[in-house]
Amino acid sequence: MSKQDKLIIFDTTLRDGEQSPGASMTGDEKVRIARALERMRVDVIEAGFPIASHGDFEAVQSVAKAISDSTVCGLARALDKDIDRAGEALKPANSARIHTFIATSPIHMQMKLRMQPEQVIEQAVRAVKRARQYTDNIEFSPEDAGRSEPEFLFRILEAVIDAGASTVNIPDTVGYNLPHQFGDLIKQLIENVPNSDKAVFSVHCHNDLGLAVSNSLSAVLNGARQVECTINGLGERAGNAALEEIVMAVRTRQDMFSCDSDLDATQIVTCSRLVANITGFPVQPNKSIVGANAFAHESGIHQDGVLKSRETYEIMRAEDVGWSANRMVLGKHSGRNAFKTRLAELGVEFSSEEELNDTFARFKDLADKKHEIFDEDLQALVTESNLEAENERYKLVALKVCSETGEMPTSSITISADAKEMQCSAQGGGPVDASYKAIEEMVHSDTQLQLYSVNNITSGTDSQGEVTVRLEKAGRIVNGQGSDTDIVVASVKAYINALNKLEQTSAREHPQSADV
Ligand code: KIV
Ligand code: ZN
Repeated sequence: MSKQDKLIIFDTTLRDGEQSPGASMTGDEKVRIARALERMRVDVIEAGFPIASHGDFEAVQSVAKAISDSTVCGLARALDKDIDRAGEALKPANSARIHTFIATSPIHMQMKLRMQPEQVIEQAVRAVKRARQYTDNIEFSPEDAGRSEPEFLFRILEAVIDAGASTVNIPDTVGYNLPHQFGDLIKQLIENVPNSDKAVFSVHCHNDLGLAVSNSLSAVLNGARQVECTINGLGERAGNAALEEIVMAVRTRQDMFSCDSDLDATQIVTCSRLVANITGFPVQPNKSIVGANAFAHESGIHQDGVLKSRETYEIMRAEDVGWSANRMVLGKHSGRNAFKTRLAELGVEFSSEEELNDTFARFKDLADKKHEIFDEDLQALVTESNLEAENERYKLVALKVCSETGEMPTSSITISADAKEMQCSAQGGGPVDASYKAIEEMVHSDTQLQLYSVNNITSGTDSQGEVTVRLEKAGRIVNGQGSDTDIVVASVKAYINALNKLEQTSAREHPQSADV
């Protein structure tokens, strides 16, 4: 494929995706996702915002160490301290990119930055030059480009390309643009920035009006050759353009696009499951490509047509995006080696024999309750082991639930807090409600429950239930997850996991709220 025909896939699940409320990930979780993205042949992985906190810095550094085939990118405002921190975090990377940005719309320059346009250009150029001290691979974004004056964009883009930016990324930060308008903006930029041939034009679209994918595709049709996207469309507010939709739209409609990505699409479903599992953001069943119903034909007429010739109703093949591939099943009799091998294929590496043994013991427990163990079960198992491996204050010790028609359910729970056991019983509208009340009587967490959701990880009544709980305390939001074949146990694990996360997370700087 010639350079002209390549569509660069820049995944920002670990950075913009992490800006979804409660979706913050640990360093280990980021490395697991990064490995899955690398296996899928994503070109650039934006691993985080190193200046945000010590944890973010370390996470970017860990991803930089773990990844060798994809370029690893760190975000930095157009500030010396941000750029130096990103440069430092990316030192171990085989191929590193610094992504620096500053807002360019009139409203952002006046109200947020309180800077004159000339000062913004000066600061952008300075940032790109400073970033060049660390790597030649520099990306610059004029934040809120979708509401910026095109003439101002012509000037600032020319200046940053001259200063050494090799990628210029056009964000529709607030998801305001319409597809024809955004495509036209990209065309204008390519035509009017005098040195546009010296940089790759990229786009980064938010989904506030549900147009992130359409806007990105319109940009590609008009010359953009990098798309920034996230797995499952995760991201700030309504999210970013979904990677799986962009990649499959371009590949399926090669009659319309003169470019394609190098992505191994058969890894898409595994990646989607992994991200949903780690972040606790489930995928809706009717979601394109990765939703459980995306390839399910319900109506008799459709089923009949597909059986006669699948092209009658299918524009893509389920197996091409990873459905039903990689579903080697493990069970009660599977040995340690098969278990380890399958997890290695899923990108999970154990840091010690002890960790492997512990996860294998959990696998055996699960296999006693459930005949067939699928990849999704394994992912959930590893996530749970990781969650428990962290320094956690609360642990579930025992749970007894009594639920009977005509009676109020009662839950008796024993937990340990700082290694001291406590026990409490409570009644509630249902067994989960009773259990949460019992926990609260012991911990008095002063949190608000914002979300409680249950999903089955695989099909069948012996499937594990995966519960996500979102708790808010004094403006901080966390998602807790738990999985078990018993959904009350899964619910209690999820609640305790969220409480532990609240204990561990500290305030982080948000890239776009802080002023420059
Ligand atoms: O949405 C946005 O503008 C961003 C930038 C930092 C690229 O995420
Ligand atoms: Zn964004």
